Amino acid sequence: MSADYTSLRRIGNEFAKQLAKQNDHDGAKAIQAILRKRGVPLQASGYAEALPRDAASRLPLLEEGQWPTTPIMLNGEPGATISQFIDDAKHIDLLSEKGVSARLGLLLYGPPGTGKSLLAGHVAASLGRPFYIARLDSLISSRLGETAKNIRGVFEYVPAKKAVLFLDEMDAIAKVRDDRHELGELKRVVNTVLQGLDSLTDDVVTIAATNHPHLLDPAIWRRFPYKAEISLPDRDVRESLWLHFLYEGQEARRDEATLLAQVSDGLNGADIENIGLAARRRAILSGAEPALAKILLAVSGSRSGSARLIGNDDLDAQAKRTLSSFLSDKGGINQAEIARIIGVSRQMVNKYLKEVQDG
Ligand SMILES: Nc1ncnc2c1ncn2[C@@H]1O[C@H](COP(=O)(O)OP(=O)(O)OP(=O)(O)O)[C@@H](O)[C@H]1O
Ligand SMILES: [Mg+2]
Repeated sequence: MSADYTSLRRIGNEFAKQLAKQNDHDGAKAIQAILRKRGVPLQASGYAEALPRDAASRLPLLEEGQWPTTPIMLNGEPGATISQFIDDAKHIDLLSEKGVSARLGLLLYGPPGTGKSLLAGHVAASLGRPFYIARLDSLISSRLGETAKNIRGVFEYVPAKKAVLFLDEMDAIAKVRDDRHELGELKRVVNTVLQGLDSLTDDVVTIAATNHPHLLDPAIWRRFPYKAEISLPDRDVRESLWLHFLYEGQEARRDEATLLAQVSDGLNGADIENIGLAARRRAILSGAEPALAKILLAVSGSRSGSARLIGNDDLDAQAKRTLSSFLSDKGGINQAEIARIIGVSRQMVNKYLKEVQDG
């Protein structure tokens, strides 16, 4: 959903002016302050001019992200680190005063599509801070020296904002070497990132994300005292993801979500979202919800990072065969249950499984 922030700002400003006319200057100021921050995208509001830009492309070096509305669903392990990080960030003034402040740097690493970027947005939201996103891959310039300049631009812009600075695709830095056949440039760029990180005051929160933690320079790795591995969703998390993205959280659909979770290991959150939303689109456009069997067939044909969408046609014999064997092998689901899901007799399922075995 995209909101009309330009109008929102216009109306808000109008309202602030009215208050000022009535001599309520504090009220006017408060409204203007809200309009300036709160994760309202700068792009949509015409405020993007103020952002630092790449000299050649004129593209902004960072963007202001919105606080996410999608809930984040994670396996147990990273939770403790992340809540400790949020807790420390909330009380950084007290911790500094007592001389035990930590550098507020959180590194999120793990496979694509597992919710790292989403999580970074949630951290910003729970801290109530504006959320600035810099994609390292887009800071890399073909002009010698320009990449370092871009990185400096990002670090110089953010500290003033009491913000969360999100450095996405952090491993892109390592690629500078391959592209340039020149080690000097890579060193310069890594040093600029290190200097940038070191220049930040205690109250700036930095979050970095990468799919390739082994490509990160060890000195950069050390600058992030809080580290959380975000892995592929386990079965419980997949169940929550299916329930949320496909069934909009309706508890009555829990059993279907459980079944989908059982057979979708290896898929990431983004894949489950893609399949779930595709099914809901089919439901809206065709006036009928796609059968569970069709959704399961899409799952059976999906690999992590390439979700298959829901077909329009009814399942043919080949599809039923594939699905029977998938549910039996991967889900450990018995023949009677498979028969119910596909809508054929148990004998038929038995026959399909034999055919696949012989085939
Ligand atoms: N754990 C999760 N909980 C809720 N939604 C998720 C989760 N993982 C993925 N998603 C959905 O998939 C979308 C893409 O995930 P996101 O961009 O955060 O992944 P990422 O780990 O940053 O991937 P990449 O490494 O490719 O940048 C999210 O916006 C969300 O809608
Ligand atoms: Mg990401």
